[in-house]
Amino acid sequence: MSENGPLLKILFVGDVVGKGGRNAVKQLVPVLKDRYHASFVIVNAENSANGAGISKTCIDDMNTAPVNVYTAGDHIWDQKSFEHEINMYQNVLRPANMSTLQPGKGYGVFRNPAGGEVAVINLSGKVFMRESACCPFECVEKILQSLPKTVKCIFVDIHAEATSEKAALAWMLDGKVTAVVGTHTHVQTADGRVLPGGTAFLSDVGMTGGHDSVLGREVKDVVKKFRTGMPTRLEVTEKNIRLDYCVVTYELNTGKAVGIVNGSEFYNPDSL
Ligand SMILES: [Fe+2]
Ligand SMILES: [Fe+2]
Repeated sequence: MSENGPLLKILFVGDVVGKGGRNAVKQLVPVLKDRYHASFVIVNAENSANGAGISKTCIDDMNTAPVNVYTAGDHIWDQKSFEHEINMYQNVLRPANMSTLQPGKGYGVFRNPAGGEVAVINLSGKVFMRESACCPFECVEKILQSLPKTVKCIFVDIHAEATSEKAALAWMLDGKVTAVVGTHTHVQTADGRVLPGGTAFLSDVGMTGGHDSVLGREVKDVVKKFRTGMPTRLEVTEKNIRLDYCVVTYELNTGKAVGIVNGSEFYNPDSL
C-alpha cells in the first residue's frame, strides 16, 4: 500500500513461439502470477501458431492459463484463418496503427480483478519493420484522448525492431501511461526502469521459445539461410523452452508505475 492506494502488479510475457511456447505459458504463467502476486496478465502471442501468427486453436490452448489479454505484432495475419477468428475474442489485440480496414482492434479497456481497469494498447513500430503501419506516435495520442479519464492504468506493447523508436515512444508517453514495453526482437534487454514521470519502460521483453535457437528457430536452419542466401524452411525449436517476462508494479489510484523487474523462467516438460 502506498499513499496513492494499493500497489498492483501486471505480468507481461514476451512473444510466444510455437507449441513449446504455449506449453510454457500454461505451466509458468500460474507460477509467476503467484510468485509476484500479479493480478493481471498480458501475453504477446504473435508467433504462437508454429512460429507464424495466431490461430483460434492457439488462443484456446493458452486460455487454460490465467491470461487476461493477448497482444500481437507484424505476424498477426500469418495464419489466414485468424482474420475470421480474431473478432471471436474481446481480449485479443492486433497493432492499433494498422489500416482501419483490418479486422480486430488495437486497444481495449479490461477489468483488473484486483481493482480498477487496465487499458492495453498494442502498437507496431515503423523502423525496419516489413509491414506498412501508420505513425505509432500519432496513433497512441489519439487513443489516449479517447480513453475515459477513470482509466488510470494504461499498458502499451510497442512491437518494434528499433530500440530508438521504442525509447522515444516511452519518453513521449512518460507520465501519461503506466508502462511501455517492447516486443518483437525476441531478445530481452537489460534497461528496465521507471522514467521520471512514472512510466515503466523496457526496450524488449524477449520471447517464450527455444533457448538453444536463433529467435525461436532451429540454429542449423538459420545458419544455412544466412550462409547460402537460399530460401530455407526455419523449423521452430520445441526443446528447452524459456519464458521471458517482466512485472510492472503500479499505484491503483494514480496508474503511475513504481517498479519494473524482468526475468526468465524455464519450462519443465516433466511437470505438466
Ligand atoms: Fe514481430
Ligand atoms: Fe515475434
